[in-house]
Amino acid sequence: MEFDISTDAPEAVACDALAVPVHEDRRDLEGAASRVDRALGGLLSTVIAEERFEAKPGKTLVLHTHGKLPAKRIIAVGLGPAASVTPETLRRAAGAVVRRAAAMHAAHLAFPPASITGTPAASVAQARIEGILLAGYRFARYKADEGGTVRRVTLLTENHEQQRHVEEGRRRAALFAEATIFARDLVNEPPNHLPPTRLAEIATETARRNGLRCSVLDEEAMRAQGMGAILAVGGGSDQSPRLIVLEYAPPQARRSVALVGKGVCYDSGGINLKHTDLEWMKGDMAGGAAVLAAMAAIPALGPAARVMGIIAAVENMPSGRAMKPGDVVRAMNGRTIEINNTDAEGRLILADAVAYAAQAGADEIIDLATLTGSAMVALGYHAAALMSNDDALAGRLLAAAEQSGERLWRLPLYEEFLEDMRSQIADLRNSGSRYGGAQKGGIFIREFAGGKPWAHLDIAPTGFLEKDEGTGPYTPKGGTGYGVRTLLTYLSGVA
Ligand code: BES
Ligand code: MN
Ligand code: ZN
Repeated sequence: MEFDISTDAPEAVACDALAVPVHEDRRDLEGAASRVDRALGGLLSTVIAEERFEAKPGKTLVLHTHGKLPAKRIIAVGLGPAASVTPETLRRAAGAVVRRAAAMHAAHLAFPPASITGTPAASVAQARIEGILLAGYRFARYKADEGGTVRRVTLLTENHEQQRHVEEGRRRAALFAEATIFARDLVNEPPNHLPPTRLAEIATETARRNGLRCSVLDEEAMRAQGMGAILAVGGGSDQSPRLIVLEYAPPQARRSVALVGKGVCYDSGGINLKHTDLEWMKGDMAGGAAVLAAMAAIPALGPAARVMGIIAAVENMPSGRAMKPGDVVRAMNGRTIEINNTDAEGRLILADAVAYAAQAGADEIIDLATLTGSAMVALGYHAAALMSNDDALAGRLLAAAEQSGERLWRLPLYEEFLEDMRSQIADLRNSGSRYGGAQKGGIFIREFAGGKPWAHLDIAPTGFLEKDEGTGPYTPKGGTGYGVRTLLTYLSGVA
């Protein structure tokens, strides 16, 4: 998509469609909407009243200008009540405009200036441009694109000062959106095209292009490191597992953050074979995809911390070599695990990957995983679950999520949850009873973090959307890229 920044007035800009914001609780139109209304002799306010357009967040109304303005159409977009507008409101509104415009083959859009009191102008611009870039996404690798596309966007500003902020926001939005789309593409890729070895190739190539260090551990290397849990999960598949390790290491770095991703390229459940949701389980590497995509963007972001990206890539399949319920394996940190459910494979691979992060000298560990159906039962498709052994880290992640518009909700890790994860014959078992399932998965993983500050994002609710439920103006069906923007926001604040 092509962007230009202009100081044209909204009523003077030539384009296929001009977006104008409307508030739900304001009787009179304001800003660009009011200027356009005046230039159209009151037509916009008349249509808004006659169509009973309520300006609910993300709702749109289209008006043709019939040559009365250089803009061919006006897209009025609802922002809800004026006092409740956040960057996320604008991100969604911009996304809604882009989708509406694409549906009517309007290729050139214009957006008037926008601001929110108390929010830096660059952040406002970033949010809107993210909405624009993410809303136009489609996974078109195996099917020719159909329908219209927005190709050009003109961002209107009032002065040069504003222009600088918009330009800064545009750069950050481009970085964040490109990374998010990279993650979406990986999640949407069919599992026959993306086994663990292919994910490792893509990671290696990504590292080369972006100046990251990268090493890939094959089965032999993992055996040498004692990673019995990953090897057990990967053992059932003809596709060999990999542990992918990426590293961004600026010379001035004092702290070290590890991002750990669940990269189950396909989760059949294994011997505890799933009977539902099987065609969604290519998305079980969404955590790994988010980590890889965030790592790709980190050099351009340039945080002052060392960042490791660790992705445990496996296929969970049934076969004569598959792990069996009843097996006991030993993870890299020496802890033994009784496998009582082969479908609770995510926590097994994270046990080794998180232990690896702790041993590699991480000062804090953040893992992302499509870990449990329980998190989906708790939160629907609308938020990921956060669990942590460190309130400060949890607080920083919640703040980053708030800024990125990716909903995140903390769940408690009561020690009682661990009791249900104890085994008669090993240190732990990998599956407990149903209730509190997300937290039982979380507290299991915590046991491998070596006492370091650690946070777990169960992104099963948000990583992959198969139904319209949970989708939003800038989040279509399929892989969402959830987590990428929160990680990048978090890391840009880390010193
Ligand atoms: N990948 C699944 C979780 C999942 C389910 C993600 C549906 C997205 C949509 C995970 O490996 C799994 O199977 N979890 C089990 C754990 C249980 C056996 C303790 C679950 O949630 O049922
Ligand atoms: Mn599973
Ligand atoms: Zn899984």
